[in-house]
Amino acid sequence: MGRRLGVVVVLAQAFALLLAVGGARAAVVEHTFHVGNLVIRQLCREQVVVAVNGKVPGETIVAHEGDTVIVHVVNDSPRNLSMHWHGVFQLLSAWADGPLYVTQCPILPGQSYTYKFDVVGQEGTLWWHAHASWLRATVYGALIVLPRSGGRGYPFPQPFAEVPIMLGEWWNEDVVAVEFASLATGNVPNISNAYTINGNPGDLYPCSGQQGKL
Ligand SMILES: *[C@@H]1O[C@H](CO)[C@@H](O)[C@H](O)[C@H]1NC(C)=O
Ligand SMILES: *[C@@H]1O[C@H](CO)[C@@H](O)[C@H](O)[C@H]1NC(C)=O
Repeated sequence: MGRRLGVVVVLAQAFALLLAVGGARAAVVEHTFHVGNLVIRQLCREQVVVAVNGKVPGETIVAHEGDTVIVHVVNDSPRNLSMHWHGVFQLLSAWADGPLYVTQCPILPGQSYTYKFDVVGQEGTLWWHAHASWLRATVYGALIVLPRSGGRGYPFPQPFAEVPIMLGEWWNEDVVAVEFASLATGNVPNISNAYTINGNPGDLYPCSGQQGKL
């Protein structure tokens, strides 16, 4: 009797230890990306671009190591597309990687597709982007995998604040047209009209800081 009780106590202790080592349980981080045409104002002109949830860049996905990420991509844009989770090791989920015609067929206009993958054994600030033609010029956002809470934490002192900074480029033309023109002529593609920080051209460009304000 005493011995059986001893075994139960040891098991309970082992369970408590597991909980302590494992920290918080893995969570499911779920997002819906409505991909569609967006009219934005950039460099003093209005332009139609493809964007996620009406923003460039699209929303930031924040997960913790060990979490499951689920993203429902609803394609309301006129383009074929797919989404890539740049820097994520797709462990036993290669079909969620995204490159068009490599790991999947395109998500056709009017269709949707759900990506599901675990971020196990990986941490860092990554990004997601469209993996079809040049749509990534406006279809992108940050993907942050924080250390698991209760885990070993940051390998550096806890920062005072964290702000994702996404560097990009802006074209005054439809980026798919820029790509096609280059393929058709064999010439290098037209260079971009501006560099961007979090979607905004810097102070040295005309109408700086006016993105999205029509
Ligand atoms: C979209 O994808 C479908 C299926 O692969 C293909 O038949 C069609 O030509 C594609 N459309 C464009 C504009 O690339
Ligand atoms: C590329 O640049 C040329 C020269 O500035 C311009 O005439 C043309 O419209 C551009 N075309 C595309 C598709 O980018």
